[in-house]
Amino acid sequence: MKTLFFSIIAMFLAVTGAGQTRMSISTVSNAPTISRHIYGHFAEHLGRCIYDGFWVSDTSTLRRKDRIRLDVVDALKKIKIPNLRWPGGCFADEYHWRDGIGPRTQRPKMLNTHWGNVVEDNSFGTHEFLELCNLLETEPYIAGNVGSGTVDEMSKWVEYFNFDGLSPATELRKQNGRSTPWKVQYWGVGNESWGCGGNMTADYYADEYRRYATFCKNYPGAPLKKVAGGSNGNDYNWTETLMRKIPLSMMWGLSLHYYTLQGNWDKKGSATQFNEQEYFTTMRKCLQMDEVVTRHSTIMDRYDPSKRVAMVVDEWGVWTDVEPGTNPGFLYQQNSLRDALIAGATLNIFNNHADRVKMANLAQTVNVLQALILTKGNQMLLTPTYHVFDMYKVHHDAKLLQVNFASPDYIVGDQKIPAVSVSASRDSTGKVHVSLVNMDANKDIVIRTSLHDMNWQTVTGQAVTSARFTDINTFERPGLITISDFKGARKEGNELVVTLPKLSVVVLELK
Ligand code: AHR
Repeated sequence: MKTLFFSIIAMFLAVTGAGQTRMSISTVSNAPTISRHIYGHFAEHLGRCIYDGFWVSDTSTLRRKDRIRLDVVDALKKIKIPNLRWPGGCFADEYHWRDGIGPRTQRPKMLNTHWGNVVEDNSFGTHEFLELCNLLETEPYIAGNVGSGTVDEMSKWVEYFNFDGLSPATELRKQNGRSTPWKVQYWGVGNESWGCGGNMTADYYADEYRRYATFCKNYPGAPLKKVAGGSNGNDYNWTETLMRKIPLSMMWGLSLHYYTLQGNWDKKGSATQFNEQEYFTTMRKCLQMDEVVTRHSTIMDRYDPSKRVAMVVDEWGVWTDVEPGTNPGFLYQQNSLRDALIAGATLNIFNNHADRVKMANLAQTVNVLQALILTKGNQMLLTPTYHVFDMYKVHHDAKLLQVNFASPDYIVGDQKIPAVSVSASRDSTGKVHVSLVNMDANKDIVIRTSLHDMNWQTVTGQAVTSARFTDINTFERPGLITISDFKGARKEGNELVVTLPKLSVVVLELK
C-alpha cells in the first residue's frame, strides 16, 4: 500500500502538465571526470577490419601513407578517438608478434583460425599498428597473447615497445627502423581467457595473470597500465575471483565484455530487417549494460573501495547476423538508426559510471560488428554510430553532472523500458553538455529541466535521427543519417525545455 502511494507520488512529480517530464541537473563537489578513454575503439585482424579497412594493397589508388588508407584515418581523427585496441579479440591469443616485424616479404604467414580460416600474411604488424596510432593521434592498447603464447614472448614484446636502453629486443627494433621506444602504456593480459583465450577457470587465469603481469616490466619513463581479462557479461563469479586473488597493485584495470544481441548466439537477428517488438527487445538488452556494470562495480567496491582499479569495457556493441552473402567468419553487418540509439544509450551508461568505468572499446572500428565506418573498394561511408561518437566527444575529460530523472516508459505489449537515457557533463571551459536518447519509436517527449548552480544564456543542439529505426546509410545514399542542427530546445527562465523527437540522439550545449 505504502509502495503504491509513493509510486503515485513519484509519477505525479515526474510527469507534469501535458505529458511534460521533469528533470534536474546539478553539480556535485566530488564528481568524477568522464575519461576520454571511454570513447575508445577496437581493431582486430578479423574480416575486413585491418585488411581493406585500414590497410590496403600497395597498388591501391587511395590516398595513403605506406598502405594505411587516409580517408579512414581522417574520419577517425575528426571524432578524436582516444585509444585503439589491437590485435584482437580472439586473434590476440594466437598472434605471435615476432611474425609481424622485419622485412614484409620475409614475414611468415599464419592461419587465422578464429575468423574464417583465412591466411594472415602479417604485413600489418607492430610497426604498422604504431604508425596507424601515430597518424590517428591515438593511444595504442595492446592485447597480449596468454592463450597460446608464453610469459617470455609477452615480456619481450613490452621490452621491444618500451625499453630505451641496449638489449637484444631493442637492437632488433632499431634494425627494423625504430630507434626510440614507443612507450605503450595500455596492456591487456590475454583476451576472453574464459573462452577463445584458453577456456580457463577464473582461478587458473588469476594465477596466470599474476605470472604474466610480474614479467611485463615498467621500463624507465614507461609505466604500464595492465588490464586483467575480465568477465563475460554477467559472470560475476569471474570478477569476484579475480578481485580476491589478484593484488590491487598488480592491475590498473579489469575488463568486461558485453554484447547486445536481439536474439541468441545461434540466431542473433538481422541488422536491417526487424519489427518494433524486435527493436524493443534489442534496446531492452542494451540497457542491461547498466545492471551488468553496476553489479560488477559492487563486487569491485568490496575489494577496492577507493576505486583504484578501472573497469575497462573493452568490447561492447550490437552483434547481429552477418549481411546476407558475406563470409560468416568476417562479422560484417550494416548499421542502422537502432545502432545509433544503442551507442548513445550505452555511452550515457558509461558516463554515469565514470567513477569506475575508465575505458571502453566499441567492437569494432571498420567493417566489423557495430562499425563506425564501412568500406567498399575505394568508397567509405560513416555509419549512424559514427555520428553519435562525433556528437558525444564533448564529454571527453569533462566533469560528470548529476542528473535526477524518472523517465517515462516506452511500452510494447506487456513490457516496458525507460524511454529516455541521459547523461550530462561540464567541460573545462564551463560549457554544459546534455546527451539524450529517446528510444520510443512512437512518441516525442517533452522534458523540463531545472539546472542548479549553473548560469547559462543560450542552448544549441545537434541530433541524429531518422524516420525509421531500420534506416541505414548505404554506398548509394551515404548521408541519409547524419548530424543535423537541433532546434527543439529553449530557455524558459532558468529552465531548459526540450522536445525530444522519437528515435533520436540529441546533444545540447548550454553556455
Ligand atoms: O569482437 C569479436 C570477438 O568477440 C572478439 O574477437 C572476441 O574477444 C569476442 O568474443
